[in-house]
Amino acid sequence: MRAIIVAGLMLTGLVLANSASASSELAKQGGCLNCHAVDTKKVGPSFKEVAAKNKGKAGADEAITAKIAGAKDHPKVKASEADVKTLVKWVLAM
Ligand code: HEC
Repeated sequence: MRAIIVAGLMLTGLVLANSASASSELAKQGGCLNCHAVDTKKVGPSFKEVAAKNKGKAGADEAITAKIAGAKDHPKVKASEADVKTLVKWVLAM
């Protein structure tokens, strides 16, 4: 029983790690990392700073997705709206 739980937790960890690296790949392909980094401020704020600023704000993911995908108060990006949505969720979960 215990072994099953441990295996389950390990599997969950693997899946989470994989989706995080898939998102950082997406951020690279979408050109986001030209202006952003996870930990440090570049042209735009660091993703961790964005997450901290929006912690606990209801609807922040949708508002920020609309802002970035619609290029309102944010430079135009080449990522699709669906990709931006995935990326914003990833950023806000940091
Ligand atoms: C040409 C440079 C540039 C690129 C490319 C870029 N950003 Fe930004 N980003 C900025 C700047 C500058 C800001 C700060 C001004 C603002 O809030 O819009 C910002 C802000 C943000 C914010 C915070 C918005 C808020 O309302 O707090 C997020 C999240 C973000 N960018 C995500 C992304 C993602 C995801 C991509 C790739 C699809 C991306 N950015 C590509 C320059 C860029």
